[in-house]
Amino acid sequence: MQEIKKGLEGIVALDTRISFIDGMQGILRYRGIDIEQLAGMTYDAVSYLLVNGEIPNEQELAAYSARLKTERRINGEMTDIMRICNYGSEALDSLRTAISCTAQMDYENDNNSLEANKNKAIRLIAKLPTMIAVMYRCKNGEIPLQPDDDLSHGANFLYMLRGEEPSAIEAEAIEKDFILSAEHELNPSTFALRIAASTLADAYSAIIAGLCTLKGPLHGGARKGVMEMLDEVAVPENANDYVLYKLARKQKIMGFGHRVYRNYDPRSRIFKEMAKKVAKENGDTTYYEVAENLEHVMYREFLEVRGRPIYPNVDFYSAVIYKYLQIPPELATSVFAIGRVSGWTAHCFEQYTDNRVIRPRAHYV
Ligand code: ACO
Repeated sequence: MQEIKKGLEGIVALDTRISFIDGMQGILRYRGIDIEQLAGMTYDAVSYLLVNGEIPNEQELAAYSARLKTERRINGEMTDIMRICNYGSEALDSLRTAISCTAQMDYENDNNSLEANKNKAIRLIAKLPTMIAVMYRCKNGEIPLQPDDDLSHGANFLYMLRGEEPSAIEAEAIEKDFILSAEHELNPSTFALRIAASTLADAYSAIIAGLCTLKGPLHGGARKGVMEMLDEVAVPENANDYVLYKLARKQKIMGFGHRVYRNYDPRSRIFKEMAKKVAKENGDTTYYEVAENLEHVMYREFLEVRGRPIYPNVDFYSAVIYKYLQIPPELATSVFAIGRVSGWTAHCFEQYTDNRVIRPRAHYV
């Protein structure tokens, strides 16, 4: 019998040109470009890079951004759907329905050509922020706002959600959040999406498979868990007791650990710096200090007890930023999806381009 790797740990399933991770060194690149450099670009440029495979020149980027802006708007039917489909506590449940309905309204739904699929990618990248903001405002009895074409992808989302333009630092923070969340090789949601795409299911179906997989607390759902934990811990002095209590009961601390990284996740480093900046601008640095103490205690406990440290993952300091941006926890996984949708579509196209159905075996016991 072949050895079974539980959780497929260490198994290399396919070739990809989309991203590269060195988990020992803490390196992440999208299409050959270091994450530190990508973090200084706009989300539009990074999403173009992921979807089209190369950095856009000035004209290409201008045309792409203009196209995204025209696609930001959602029609009256979709607004009604977002108004009605908000029973659940998680915005992701509404978003899942919204993407399903987008597929039904899209005349190109069954067209699996690369051109039609790139149109679908643009529609999803552009419309996800609007869908989430409309759903949230309707749920709270507020009037949904039209997108503002003068604002960047990130700044426009915060504007549509909160009803006021974000500060320059807030806009930078959300733009970075979308960029750093955009792509991460064969994470669970992307793998689920590639399996769906490998059956030649349409792109919307594949994206929904990815979206559903993102929801779990061991994956994208951890961001919401971190936000709740920050409130639970409340003050930096409580971090030590909180961690010891949880670890003694073998409970996971959300936002720590990673299957691939054995070193500091390079995205966390950038998120941490950004979290410090938004905290400073806010004036109340408590959430940031709570997070920093949690990080120190986790590092110490894992090093002392297991002989190797544990580091914050992508969901940890991003959640601190969400607290300062007043993004409610029930929106956290959906906001993650706003960024990730570019990477998902890139993987979907890559799967279609060199396809063989993904179908492993199980050992019968
Ligand atoms: N808190 C407490 N203990 C942890 C944590 C944590 N966050 N992460 C790992 N450990 C412990 C495990 O309990 C396990 O201990 P054991 O050997 O005594 O059983 C050991 O470290 C190895 O952890 P696994 O869960 O087996 O590692 P795996 O590679 O399977 O899982 C994962 C990685 C899911 C990220 C894990 O670290 C975890 O559950 N973290 C918390 C949830 C989280 O933050 N998820 C987001 C990940 S990033 C993303 O998906 C976007």
